[in-house]
Amino acid sequence: MGKIILTGDRPTGRLHVGHYVGSLKRRVELQNSGEYDKTFIMIADAQALTDNIENPEKIRQNIIEVALDYLSCGLDPAKSTLFIQSQISELCELTFYYMDLVTVSRLQRNPTVKAEIQMRNFEASIPVGFFTYPISQAADITAFKATTVPVGDDQLPMIEQTREIVRKFNAVYSDVLVEPEALLPQNQACMRLPGIDGKAKMSKSLGNCIYLADTADEVKKKIMSMYTDPTHLQVSDPGHLEGNTVFTYLDAFCKDEHFERYLPEYANLDELKEHYQRGGLGDVKVKKLLNNVMQEELEPIRNRRKEFEKDIPEIYNILKKGSDAAREVAAQTLSEVKSAMRINYFDDIELIKTQAAKYGE
Ligand code: TRP
Repeated sequence: MGKIILTGDRPTGRLHVGHYVGSLKRRVELQNSGEYDKTFIMIADAQALTDNIENPEKIRQNIIEVALDYLSCGLDPAKSTLFIQSQISELCELTFYYMDLVTVSRLQRNPTVKAEIQMRNFEASIPVGFFTYPISQAADITAFKATTVPVGDDQLPMIEQTREIVRKFNAVYSDVLVEPEALLPQNQACMRLPGIDGKAKMSKSLGNCIYLADTADEVKKKIMSMYTDPTHLQVSDPGHLEGNTVFTYLDAFCKDEHFERYLPEYANLDELKEHYQRGGLGDVKVKKLLNNVMQEELEPIRNRRKEFEKDIPEIYNILKKGSDAAREVAAQTLSEVKSAMRINYFDDIELIKTQAAKYGE
């Protein structure tokens, strides 16, 4: 059995640097590592609709934004299959059958779904489709027999749910499905990058995101306005690192080599942190470093985006081809699933023969 990657994003907005360090960058590295037989990257529009039923146009408009973000980060349609979830109807069929393998109480225990229900004030009126999206996500993953799912830690409950469905299916029917593993970001700062205002999550509605598509000026402005340490009033005051957004971002983006280029008086981030904590290092200097580091990382992405933006019909073409290829793989898995579940009637010659024999033919 080869190693297969599947992952995806809901197209509810442009992708931001949190998506980038949390997953996108890693996907590109994995895609280029040569260690995986196949990489599937899915735009999860159907999942996005589960809590956006009244807002389909938002999802529709953001398909191209997410696709442009993918391509400009280096996901390459020659190496990865980029596709749109809703175009693969096999995923719905798989979801329908998996529903028989999951209990309501098991779904109610999913901590990510619980948090989302609270955030959206859904308590009294949870759409069934939203409530059951972990099952549909299990279909997304298993349809491609993915072994590896690169995601942030908020997605761990979905992977666990998927693994349970796989084990149950394989035990009840036969060994058709593959148990996937989550692949988490390597460092804590990348796990959940805070918003520029220091709030735990970057979110469009809070207006605290740095988008991959932001211009150099926009990025700089956002960095210069970042939340730091409110007790660090004068340069000479000792500064604190905890909850200090600028340092969290440096943890996510900065490497030793950046110091040679931008701040040679320090050898590495540890030395800079020490100085900050001792007092005598101003926020502006640290923010300027972060700006240099982030611009270096984001500029090539921005430039590639500009190129891809020149031929939008070609992007839709890439997604269509990817969806066609994905559908073939999902159809194969669905066919195996239906055989295992004994609901393949017409391609089972043995069944027809035995039934005929029973009637003495
Ligand atoms: N739940 C993921 C998110 O909110 C999107 C997603 C849907 C996904 N299906 C998936 C991620 C399958 C990994 C694998 O971003």
